[in-house]
Amino acid sequence: MRPATAPGYFETHRIVSRRERQSPGNPHFGSEGFASLPKPFDRAKASRSRSCFANFPTTMLSSSGSQAFAGRKRYRVGMRFAAEFFSGMGLVRAGLERNGICTTFANDVDLTKAALYRDNWGDDALLVRDIREVHGRDVPCVDVATSSFPCVDLSIAGARAGLAGKRSGLVYEFCRVIGEMKRRAPRALVIENVPGFLTANGGRDFRAVQRRLNQMGYATGVVVLDAAAFLPQSRARVFVLALRGREVAAPLVPPPDRTMRLADVADRATADWWRGKRRTGFFASLSPIQAARIKRHHRRPRMAWFGAYRRTRRGRPVWEVRADELAGALRTTQGGSSRQAIVRCGGRRATRVRWMSVREYARLQGAQHFRFGAVSERQALYALGDAVCVPVVEWLAREWICKALR
Ligand SMILES: C[S@@+](CC[C@H](N)C(=O)[O-])C[C@H]1O[C@@H](n2cnc3c(N)ncnc32)[C@H](O)[C@@H]1O
Repeated sequence: MRPATAPGYFETHRIVSRRERQSPGNPHFGSEGFASLPKPFDRAKASRSRSCFANFPTTMLSSSGSQAFAGRKRYRVGMRFAAEFFSGMGLVRAGLERNGICTTFANDVDLTKAALYRDNWGDDALLVRDIREVHGRDVPCVDVATSSFPCVDLSIAGARAGLAGKRSGLVYEFCRVIGEMKRRAPRALVIENVPGFLTANGGRDFRAVQRRLNQMGYATGVVVLDAAAFLPQSRARVFVLALRGREVAAPLVPPPDRTMRLADVADRATADWWRGKRRTGFFASLSPIQAARIKRHHRRPRMAWFGAYRRTRRGRPVWEVRADELAGALRTTQGGSSRQAIVRCGGRRATRVRWMSVREYARLQGAQHFRFGAVSERQALYALGDAVCVPVVEWLAREWICKALR
């Protein structure tokens, strides 16, 4: 059996009626059921639709829920609407809008991310407020609500307080707001986080969220998607899919695309190569295994690009270079400590190292069309490291949200 956090893992939980549960002939007898709907992944179709942002109006809907008109803007009848919680700079929105799902409400508390959000999406959907002070009445009628709640207490990099932690525990605030919407609550929910969400506190935290959603009338399913299926970044993320009153048919997830290379996103115009002490320090920190790896990479006739990141080994910061041609999962850069570097090796040229640029971070998140001029370089890297990979959301919107809302 696959481990629960492996990319491609999926399971679904549906709410089973009491009558169904009491029928011994039923496969769901006495428990929550499991169901799956395998669907072949069409990579050609995916890459065709990857290329452009849909240009939909972004005016906020009136809370009366009229889906045909909002303010002075006109919406297509039958169009889908989304509320984006923990919106950050709005990468979930980018993935949804490529599928014609229009975001009419967004919420985040961070002023820097709000500056990025406004610069890219305008001001009409974003509510900058602590989610603890957001109420169901603040949210317009939408078809789907997304929640990329903070992962600090769930990721291996953190202290693993789980959902008892102050920040990751905010997922319960999201549930509260949805609960307060009562009959206006969205039909579908998508909750995203790191794989540690499934395993924190022996899985009890995850099951508690699942139970809460079930109590609110949602059946749930889980998929683990890796950004490496779309871009040269290894970034597995858990997506909890919830549907009100109907069984969740989880989509079959695409496997990592082995043809992806960091070279595809490398910014060849940037030549800020490290020199002097910084360069020597990088090579001096490599373990014998790492140094041998660099040598091997260096001898290749083809020039290739590798991701490198700092780790602490025996209390000492060391650099490690990836064996494959992918970037590691981008992380929030606090004080520059988890910023990735990029190493250019092979092709009979000198091996070079430099920091990954904002442009490379943006490309690795599918956010190459975004503007970052409203914030500093450090803030842009921080926001990108914290964000959701656009093509992953785009795929999920096409393969699950749009189908579930039909
Ligand atoms: C994992 S990031 C989400 C990133 C986002 N999905 C994107 O694509 O940019 C978590 C977000 O939660 C926000 N956040 C943290 N505490 C919050 C709170 N109390 N109320 C609202 N938002 C909060 C952070 O500012 C951060 O942008």
